[in-house]
Amino acid sequence: MENIFNASWIKARKQNKNVVIDFEKCFEAKPFPVKAELQISALGVYSCEINGKRVTDSVLNPGWTDYNKRIQYQTYDVTKLLEKENIIKVGVGIGWRFHKWYDLSSKIISHDTVALIAALKLTYEDGESVSIYTDDSWFSRESLIRYNHMYNGETVDFTFRTPKASSVKCIPYTKATLIPQEGEFITEQEVIRGKKLIVTPEGDTVIDFGQEITGYVSFFSKGNRGDEITVRHFEMLTHEGNVYLDNLRSAKQELKIICDGKSHLIKPVYTFYGFRYISVKGMEISSPDEFVAIVVHSDMKRTGYFSCSDEMINQLFHNIIWGQKGNFLDVPTDCPQRDERLGWTGDAQVFCKVASYSFNVEKFFKKWMGDLRAMQKKSGTIPSFVPTKFDDDGGSSAWADIATVLPWQMYLTYGNKELLRENYLLMKKWVDFMRSWALKKKPDEGISTDPYLYEGHWHFGDWLALDLPDKEAVEGATEKDLIGSAFFYYSTCLLIKASEVLGEDCRYYKNLAKNIKRSFIRKYIDENGRMYCNTQTACVLALHFGLFNEKEPLAKQLTELVKSFGHLTTGFVGTPYLLHVLSDIGENELAYELLLRDEFPSWCYPITQGATTMWERWNGYKPDGSFATPDMNSFNHYAYGAVGDWLYEKMCGIRQKDGTAGFTDIVFSPVVSDRFSFAEASIETAQGKVFSRWEKTDSGILYTFSVPAGTKASALLGGKNYTLTTGINKLEL
Ligand code: BGC
Repeated sequence: MENIFNASWIKARKQNKNVVIDFEKCFEAKPFPVKAELQISALGVYSCEINGKRVTDSVLNPGWTDYNKRIQYQTYDVTKLLEKENIIKVGVGIGWRFHKWYDLSSKIISHDTVALIAALKLTYEDGESVSIYTDDSWFSRESLIRYNHMYNGETVDFTFRTPKASSVKCIPYTKATLIPQEGEFITEQEVIRGKKLIVTPEGDTVIDFGQEITGYVSFFSKGNRGDEITVRHFEMLTHEGNVYLDNLRSAKQELKIICDGKSHLIKPVYTFYGFRYISVKGMEISSPDEFVAIVVHSDMKRTGYFSCSDEMINQLFHNIIWGQKGNFLDVPTDCPQRDERLGWTGDAQVFCKVASYSFNVEKFFKKWMGDLRAMQKKSGTIPSFVPTKFDDDGGSSAWADIATVLPWQMYLTYGNKELLRENYLLMKKWVDFMRSWALKKKPDEGISTDPYLYEGHWHFGDWLALDLPDKEAVEGATEKDLIGSAFFYYSTCLLIKASEVLGEDCRYYKNLAKNIKRSFIRKYIDENGRMYCNTQTACVLALHFGLFNEKEPLAKQLTELVKSFGHLTTGFVGTPYLLHVLSDIGENELAYELLLRDEFPSWCYPITQGATTMWERWNGYKPDGSFATPDMNSFNHYAYGAVGDWLYEKMCGIRQKDGTAGFTDIVFSPVVSDRFSFAEASIETAQGKVFSRWEKTDSGILYTFSVPAGTKASALLGGKNYTLTTGINKLEL
């Protein structure tokens, strides 16, 4: 058994709400252990040092899970930090424990107090080992950080006289939920200097970092004893150039410093903020670079790159990358700024493919799939965001379908059968849930009796689509039951594919899929082969999932719809597949038209308004200078960034051969357009780097494809197949 299980959970005897507690213990070490290993976790977020040196570069540990079900502990080699006389100090803040929708109070410990568990094992050359455990011999005291909160920020009071350390209390909180670290550590990734110092028309002093990020700022405080410095973090300036805070809802995103007359290096420890700008009160600033912004996210290795001859599309790709950096913080969150920051399943469902091309997210999602499994209800349904303690059964299509889409996508990108196996039941139970729901006939509630349609359940719908007259409406015009049954089919098909890879019997599901398809077509497609529900998303889903007898009429209907609007009208559900479907029906130029459009609504419109990340809404900031409703208007929401996978797969043509995974067999088939003079992308795969480029030359198009050793590859260009070899291949056509 791991050493940490011998330790006790400890807490301060008294703790003022939301104050950071410093726990400490002095100990002697016989000179010198050959190995010292620390295992540690907290109910809250901890920061640990031994003899004044931090034990890790990572931050916001132990990360975020449903602590009632599982809580990660970390193991650090601290051999080099030890001396003869030692002191270990661990600060613990509230962290994710206090969430608006996530109150983790229990009889043993309330949500606004914290607890620590740790075990330090010293091993000597002769094999002898000694362990120091958290127990009632530890001490604690309240720290200078008088307030901390994930949404509201931190208050550091340098005038606070730290009290004498007092004894701690062991609490009988369970240890059964402790699990070793599964995900990537969260680390500080980049530092961005303040770019512009602005005094707003309303007189606020503002620093613009030129990039929306997730993290915190660092600076040297200046002020007399008792002076208060307040830093507010926010995303947008108003049309008039003033500070805009309304869309943060109740999240204060504040950093408060109470000065003691000395200058201190400031950097928050137990919280994070989503921001591009800060406003600073109570401190003179002469240059914007007195402040730096520190970018924090899960430590995923960057794997994907893209560039082309159009700067707008390059910026779009940049915004997709920063949407991922800003929202992959142990859990894939919807947004990093307002009082939400939750692991919304629908958002991750649409974004996980491009996420897996741009960064190596195998470990990151392995951990979150563990969270999904832990939170899957007995019935098989999945909550709308994970972790959650909200009393939410979820089950919305396109959100709960994370259960099938994510494991399958991870398998496709990384080819890891074990990971697919680990999540096979997650997939199966979700499909079984939809099937059992469909079997519950409810004619008295006006729901059809078809046992193959996932109808009558509650759904989010085509979230934030623009096809209702009210452009602030959230659910779009596509019938929710249609989306439900389309995803029922799609998830069943993914389960079949997973079963085949894993050698599981899937005859039942094959039959089920056939029946869902038949029922879907019967209900939703008219005698001319067109969708009754005349929306872009309805056509896109039917085409992308193969829910038709004949492709032509649907392709025509979609093309007409796009042309008649002159733009996309899709929301979270339809948008990820829209360009893929247009390419698949031979409408590449229409796809490019949508991609390059820069008027509202479009992917590029936000860029004309200076966006450096993806926006939640197509109309977050409107051409007339007003904002969409502050109730739901994030400027760092990756969902619409799902279009990035089209840039890799279609524009640059890096595609896996059907039926293969892990980039072992690639068919390069870029979609060339006169609108660009070149485009290129690369993905660092398990086999090595895959690269694709096309460029116009005087005589035609020059293609360059790079194939890693051990990968089979061909190119499909103008309907002709070309076999490629390992290394660089050049073809001029
Ligand atoms: C979140 C979304 C999420 C949605 C559910 C919002 O508040 O920010 O991104 O998917 O709710 O529909």
